[in-house]
Amino acid sequence: MGIEMTQEVPQHVGIIMDGNGRWAKRRGKPRLHGHRNGVINVRRVLEEAKVLGVPYVTLFAFSVENWSRPPLEVRGLMALLREFLRRETRNMVKDGIRLRVIGDFGGLPPKVQAILRESIEATKHNDERHLSLALNYGSRAETIEAVKKYVKLAQSGEANPDELDWETFSDLLYTADLPDPDLIIRTSGENRLSNFLLLQGAYAEIYMTPVLWPEFDEREFRKAVESYGQRERRFGKTGEQVRSEQPIPEEAPC
Ligand code: FPP
Repeated sequence: MGIEMTQEVPQHVGIIMDGNGRWAKRRGKPRLHGHRNGVINVRRVLEEAKVLGVPYVTLFAFSVENWSRPPLEVRGLMALLREFLRRETRNMVKDGIRLRVIGDFGGLPPKVQAILRESIEATKHNDERHLSLALNYGSRAETIEAVKKYVKLAQSGEANPDELDWETFSDLLYTADLPDPDLIIRTSGENRLSNFLLLQGAYAEIYMTPVLWPEFDEREFRKAVESYGQRERRFGKTGEQVRSEQPIPEEAPC
């Protein structure tokens, strides 16, 4: 069932899940308590994405910069991730969700890699809905990785730099088989993209909300999707062009 309006629904929503620490602090609890409640919201958002007809969801779960957090927090986040995968893989298989990871997979702890491999393998035949976890992810690192791959292709004669275009380059990014995000949500009132899908999100609509991630429930997700439906996406064209969907008549040659 799609959204109850004649509005467009984003095909791909990326989410920067922020504010777990503050949410916990306000309750006098350790930061991990916030992350634990944040994980609960992942399921709620996935459920609502299904109701609204959003097929692709990408969650920024752990950035390349997050390794510099206190070791206890990093270990706790990795444990939560494993717990989530142990619990949710069966649901994902049942719900037709295919799991992917975007990020430097090899840099994750071996136990996390192992369970991720199992979940990715178990869900690989699903093609209705798609959950991508950005783990050990950073847009700049991803771009540099892609450039290195391209240079190798060019050096071996498999690619011609004069013909390089976005289609070719985007195939070298972690997101090669994902559509570009239409909507990027950031919770907790921070107005930054924090190295998340910077190239892929070039034309994404951005939705910033002061709501902290552990409180970003299905209602909040629906609000974000509805807000997207009211936006006018221009992709560099004029508003008139987009509204009439007619190309501007070419000027008569002088
Ligand atoms: C940002 O909040 C959140 C993170 C760095 C981690 C997000 C991770 C989860 C919700 C749990 C693991 C995810 C999955 C998919 C199982 P913050 O700690 O920076 O909050 P603060 O800015 O208030 O300190």
